[in-house]
Amino acid sequence: MIKNVTPSTPLPPLKVAKGHWLLKNIPSMSKNILNHFYDNEQKLGKTYENPVPFVRIIATSEPDFMRYVLQQNHRNYKKGRSYDVLKLILGNGLVTSNGKFWQKQRRLAQPAFHKKHLEDMFNVMGQTALDYFNKLETKRGTEIDIAREMMEVTAKIALKALFSDNSEEDMNAVYESMTDAQRYVSDLLNNPLARFTFKLNGRKKRFKKDLAVLDEVVLNSIAKRRKDTQKYPDLLQMMMDATYEDSNDQMNDQQLRDEMITMFSAGHETSANALAWTLHILAERPDVVAKMREEIKAVCGDQLPTFQELRQLTYVRQVIDEGMRLYPPVWGVSRTAIKDDEYRGVKIAKDDVVFCLIYNAHRREDLYENAETFDPERFTPEKVKEMPKMSYLPFGGGPRFCIGNMFALMEMQLILTGLLQRFDFELVKDQNIDLEALVTLRPRYGIKMNLT
Ligand code: HEM
Repeated sequence: MIKNVTPSTPLPPLKVAKGHWLLKNIPSMSKNILNHFYDNEQKLGKTYENPVPFVRIIATSEPDFMRYVLQQNHRNYKKGRSYDVLKLILGNGLVTSNGKFWQKQRRLAQPAFHKKHLEDMFNVMGQTALDYFNKLETKRGTEIDIAREMMEVTAKIALKALFSDNSEEDMNAVYESMTDAQRYVSDLLNNPLARFTFKLNGRKKRFKKDLAVLDEVVLNSIAKRRKDTQKYPDLLQMMMDATYEDSNDQMNDQQLRDEMITMFSAGHETSANALAWTLHILAERPDVVAKMREEIKAVCGDQLPTFQELRQLTYVRQVIDEGMRLYPPVWGVSRTAIKDDEYRGVKIAKDDVVFCLIYNAHRREDLYENAETFDPERFTPEKVKEMPKMSYLPFGGGPRFCIGNMFALMEMQLILTGLLQRFDFELVKDQNIDLEALVTLRPRYGIKMNLT
């Protein structure tokens, strides 16, 4: 267990990750950003400096430091430059905005995720999941890429929860354009030269085309809905009907567009990766699968769970929690200091970046005994209460905590339950399974499994 440090005790002077004389840590980060931060932590300590040209990054996996930045003194921190690239797709939505504007949007959007709406969305989810499982039946006896499959089902669920009345054709167009656009932005974030090469090789042009498709479908859906007198049980409806506290106004079309695209983007790849990594572990842990099946059988037999039954699937939930400990879909979050600050003697100057390393924190031996071992028993309700604050943060922390966390948890419980009720999975031998840390943590070459 972590030692109980008094937060005022000064930290020893920070060690510095040495890199290239000019490019500093960029070459090592571009090569493998996850290993870069993980290996340096083993050498330099839980909090260290990671200089890159023109920016001082302070990397940390210290729960107390992360709590300070994300929660206790959050007003002094904003989402910085790396989020500007995401704005190319997401616009000024909840993930990318800051300050008063963010606060206003968050207040407006929050009620859409209250329990009564979640129940409506869960029913939509159930039907989409069922259609997907029926489609998956046709692949029984073949080799599948489980990462791709999970991306497909979570995208379908997210789109249905956002725009329940849209055509299959429109939803496919959104899915494909979004996938391409996200790949473009990830490459842009990870490769400093990309902005030049993308202009020359036509990728920028393709990206603009993808954005135009996204805009067209989303803005058309909004226009159609504005004329419709019927009410739909989806996020678009809730966001359209919501009014700002101060003025009683509603969101305009552009703002709705940004929030809808933000929800889709933030909401499906994250869950897909959490599911893919968890299934990858489960394929080698028949003991855990047997226990899950026993619980599933007792709670809902061979039917998909109802909204009320989800809370009885406690072991399934523990498996998901433990999967996201080892493979947190959002592997780190960064904040930029607005004014000079100090944390336990560490000076944080205006514009310095504090990078909270969720992946590293989740694998610390002093926080999790046998940290590399998959053990859902760590997440029994009693043990969860004993965990140090902000030592487990798959959904982030503080006021910018993931707004869709309950949506994601119920979706993942639903999909895992449905899959285990119907199918067996076996990992294809001799494949290269590797982590790739883009915006989310995903399997670089997919995860191939035999489905029976
Ligand atoms: C396993 C699934 C998910 C994971 C691991 C996850 C993780 C996170 C994390 C770590 C943050 C905080 C980012 C930061 O502080 O910089 C976040 C924010 C956010 N997430 Fe999620 N998320 C998931 C699913 C979802 C879903 C399903 C939705 C929507 C339907 C969603 C919508 C959002 C939004 C809008 C924000 C920004 C909130 C704000 O800043 O006010 N997420 N998510």
